[in-house]
Amino acid sequence: MSTNSSDASLRQCLSHFATGVTVVTCADDAGRPCGITANSFSSVSLEPPLVLWNIAKSSNSLEAFLKARHFAFHVLSERQEPLSEHFARTDHTRFDHIDFEMSDEGVPILPGCIAVMRCSIFKTHDCGDHHIIIGRVERFEFGDGDPLLFFRSRYRSIADDRS
Ligand SMILES: Cc1cc2nc3c(=O)[nH]c(=O)nc-3n(C[C@H](O)[C@H](O)[C@H](O)COP(=O)(O)O)c2cc1C
Repeated sequence: MSTNSSDASLRQCLSHFATGVTVVTCADDAGRPCGITANSFSSVSLEPPLVLWNIAKSSNSLEAFLKARHFAFHVLSERQEPLSEHFARTDHTRFDHIDFEMSDEGVPILPGCIAVMRCSIFKTHDCGDHHIIIGRVERFEFGDGDPLLFFRSRYRSIADDRS
C-alpha cells in the first residue's frame, strides 16, 4: 500500500474501486442523439427513485446533458466493450453506425444492454471539475447477461475473478 497526494496517484487510487460501465444518452436541443461512456453511475434513493452520474466540464456533451429534460442509462453487458470504447471517443458522429431507437421523450435507446433506466432530470450540481446529474427513474427494464466491469483502468468480466 503506497501513500501519495498527486492527481495521477489519486486517479490510480480511484481506479481500485471496481464498477460497471454505462452509456448515458440524451438529445441536444436540435434533437441530435448524444451519448457518453460513464462509470460514475450510482443509485441514490428508492423513494423517490433517484440515480446519479458525473459528467466532466470538459465534455463536448456537457451542454446537451445540462439542457436535456430526459436521459437514459444503459448498463453494458460484457459483450459491449466496443460500444463502451465507441462512446468514450470524442466524435460528433457517434451515432452514425450505431443501432438505436428514439424514445417518446426523444432519448436514444441502445439495444442489447443488461439494464436500461429512463430518467427525467431531477437536479444538477456544479461540483469541482464535474457536474453531478441526478435523474429520477421514470421507467426501467433489465434482462439476463453478465456485466462489463472496469477496474484499475481495464475492462474486466465477472469470469476473470474465478480464474
Ligand atoms: C470506462 C469509462 C468510464 C468513464 N466514465 C466517465 C464519467 O463517469 N464521466 C465522464 O464525464 N466521463 C467518463 N469517461 C470519459 C468519457 O467517456 C470520454 O471522455 C468522453 O466520451 C469523450 O468525449 P466528449 O469530450 O465528447 O465527452 C469514461 C470513460 C471510460 C472509458
